[in-house]
Amino acid sequence: MSLLSREQRSRALALMERVIRDGASIAPEYPLCFDERFPGRVLATEEAGRVVSACALLVRDFTCGSRSVRVGLIGSVCTAPEARGRGLASALLRRAEEELAAEGCVLAMLWADDARFYEERGWSPLGSEIDFALEPAHEARLPGSSGLRAAAPDDRGAIHRLYSLHRERVERSPQETAALLAAPGMETLVLQRERDVVAYSCLGRGKDFARTIHEWAGSERDVLALVREHMQRARARGEGGATFLITPSTAKGLHARLRGIGANWSEGVLAMGKLLALEGAGALLADLAGPQAALAIDGGSSVAVRLTGPGGSVELSPEDLLGLLFPARGRRHGIDPVARDTGLALGELPLALFAWGLDSI
Ligand SMILES: CC(C)(COP(=O)(O)OP(=O)(O)OC[C@H]1O[C@@H](n2cnc3c(N)ncnc32)[C@H](O)[C@@H]1OP(=O)(O)O)[C@@H](O)C(=O)NCCC(=O)NCCS
Repeated sequence: MSLLSREQRSRALALMERVIRDGASIAPEYPLCFDERFPGRVLATEEAGRVVSACALLVRDFTCGSRSVRVGLIGSVCTAPEARGRGLASALLRRAEEELAAEGCVLAMLWADDARFYEERGWSPLGSEIDFALEPAHEARLPGSSGLRAAAPDDRGAIHRLYSLHRERVERSPQETAALLAAPGMETLVLQRERDVVAYSCLGRGKDFARTIHEWAGSERDVLALVREHMQRARARGEGGATFLITPSTAKGLHARLRGIGANWSEGVLAMGKLLALEGAGALLADLAGPQAALAIDGGSSVAVRLTGPGGSVELSPEDLLGLLFPARGRRHGIDPVARDTGLALGELPLALFAWGLDSI
């Protein structure tokens, strides 16, 4: 792992702020990457004492139901305008991938402004989320509730406990959740019943997630009451237009209720991803495929995995493996032919990988 001195770190941060935020601060929005108390870090390339290219890294353990997947998150990739087109970001990205692989990450993930840049470097869209757009007319069709209010600092422990109930989430400590909730530009609401906070929701996050509720927890009805409250508050601020709600594909009951009130929805991809560890991903696939599956790693020029079941075997490239485990928009069109050719049920695929809004970098 390459560690920067405090000065190099602040020079890298200054470059990110210049390139990505037009000079405005970025660190308060991503405490897990930029606050030394937390595990994230910055990678940088220097020339003559100047940082010319930089990115942030954060290793996270994603919980997908009963399974855990270690993922390396990459964010704030940037090159100084005067140093572009010389392969600096490409080289830094390769270094980031190597370091994350060495730290046991099965895959890397990022949220790209320019998907093409990453696609040309072996990245592809992965995972799914269901996004709803609620128009002002939907507000009155959402349930109301008493006990709705803005979150206070001493709600952070309760919010963390509610977050931790999700079957799909990232392992994060109460201190990490507290730091994330303190980020600027976010409206966090809670629903309190008697003495207990029973639901919460977060809208906006710095420059990201404008008009978007990106993290929430609690019962379906309570979450919908929180959505309504966000909409009422937006209206009171004079903001027109839609409010967006991001949900994991597993939140079927909530989806049904939102469709029931006529909200528009679309199925999106979660992020861009790249496989980093063939063996780790192969082991995950073998585990999910059940006791009838056998798996072998074929080395050589085109490294691949051979998956064998009672009906035969198939050879899978790293991209195939990623597409089986975490297909874009949850589509099974890569999974079903493999199930047919191997005779394996593969009913546990795809894995429900999901990042809530405060987990992204
Ligand atoms: C996107 C960005 C990070 C690219 O930085 P960069 O250092 O110029 O990137 P690279 O030089 O590696 O690649 C850029 C181009 O230079 C070309 N290039 C020139 N010499 C090269 C070399 N020796 N090796 C690799 N690529 C080279 C590449 O072909 C590439 O073109 P392509 O995208 O069509 O493949 C930079 O433009 C930037 O900071 N943009 C603003 C911030 C941003 O959008 N960040 C991404 C959001 S997370």
